[in-house]
Amino acid sequence: MRFVKSLLVSLVLSGFTARAFAGYMPDFDSGVDVKAAIQAAIESAASAGGLVPDMPGRPSPENPVWVSMEKSDVGALDGALFKRAPLAQNKRLAIYEFDAAEIGQLADGMHRAFMRAPGFFAHDTLEAVLEDLKAPPAAPERAYTLDQAGRVKEMLARVKEESIVSVITSLSAYKNRYYSSVTGVDSSKWLQQLWGKFAEGRPDISVAAFKHSFAQESVILTMRGTAEPEKVIVIGGHLDCVAGGGDSPAPGADDNASGVAVTHEVIRTLVESGYRPAKTIKFIAFAAEEVGLRGSGDIAASFKKAGTAVEGMLNLDMVNYKGSPLDIYFVSDNTSAAQNAFLGKLVDTYTDYKWGSFKCGYGCSDHASWTKNGYPASLPFESTFTQYNPFIHKPTDTLAQSGGRAEQALKFARLGVAYAVELAK
Ligand code: BES
Ligand code: ZN
Repeated sequence: MRFVKSLLVSLVLSGFTARAFAGYMPDFDSGVDVKAAIQAAIESAASAGGLVPDMPGRPSPENPVWVSMEKSDVGALDGALFKRAPLAQNKRLAIYEFDAAEIGQLADGMHRAFMRAPGFFAHDTLEAVLEDLKAPPAAPERAYTLDQAGRVKEMLARVKEESIVSVITSLSAYKNRYYSSVTGVDSSKWLQQLWGKFAEGRPDISVAAFKHSFAQESVILTMRGTAEPEKVIVIGGHLDCVAGGGDSPAPGADDNASGVAVTHEVIRTLVESGYRPAKTIKFIAFAAEEVGLRGSGDIAASFKKAGTAVEGMLNLDMVNYKGSPLDIYFVSDNTSAAQNAFLGKLVDTYTDYKWGSFKCGYGCSDHASWTKNGYPASLPFESTFTQYNPFIHKPTDTLAQSGGRAEQALKFARLGVAYAVELAK
């Protein structure tokens, strides 16, 4: 209790409360008692694993972002960014306060130094990051059936490589789609307009921006279910990309214009077929994945808070570079084993593609945000972990690296259509 108090005191002294009211923390904007909320969060986190106070006297960052990550990763890294005490920790995770400006460095620099970034979740509020210390709820088991063969086969014939190429080309033409840059914002507005066209003449389809505490908006197209609209399937991938900061060129053609383009192609195919799902399908282009899964983290947490019944989440991230012999590889950690098996069955039933699996070893993309909130999520990936596209997070992540084609992405669009039809029935 003593350290809880000293943490509170240091937070108050560091201007935490003042910033909360100045609008940095949207969660606390609506008349919530900030002090009480922090106290309650700290106490529940303390009971989940213990806290240590932040080092006294360290200047408080101007734009604080709270990050949780595996302690074993921190130990392995021990870079300049980690020459500080964690704010809170349990057996597995440690929580640090960073300045928003340091996050790009964390994501990008660590990736280059270690071939991968340590997985980390970034949050706007201390209250939200402390939630990470609690054990994640297990996704409920559900039954999966395949009985829509006629409809699926008819729809698979309509999936087109050219329209995938066209969306990758448009998205990768932005200088970058960094989460806080002007072109990162522009690319989101462009996608909102593009997807808005699917809503014309379809009152069951709507498109909305999901706003975050940073500039780039996530984009959500909702196809309302005809029979059980309260049950939701999520299909999507991240819109942002990174190769340095907001001034650096980053076409992000494979990581991850390809996943957004495949999401678009699934929507286009369903709409062109005149298909109406029984359950609601939400297609989402996530903002700010590259800086700690922030867009998907906000959205999955808001769905959980609203009690939304998400029956499955399909994450499309890097789908257009064929780096390995098999066609599709399912990531087996931080995902749902039951849903992964269902996806394997979809591939076997509706295509002649060959699939395998591998572990990322950390929460490597947006599926981890959904898993963390108790929803079954999967990541079908373009290659094995050791053979992934070597150009990602560089100015050379262009469509030319895939021969100007989307043959590999086409497979994932077909899988996405089969997944939508067999799950949203
Ligand atoms: N698309 C990558 C994830 C990825 C890369 C998966 C290579 C498998 C192989 C994603 O956009 C990314 O870069 N994620 C970060 C982690 C995130 C928490 C910032 C990473 O892996 O460095
Ligand atoms: Zn990615």
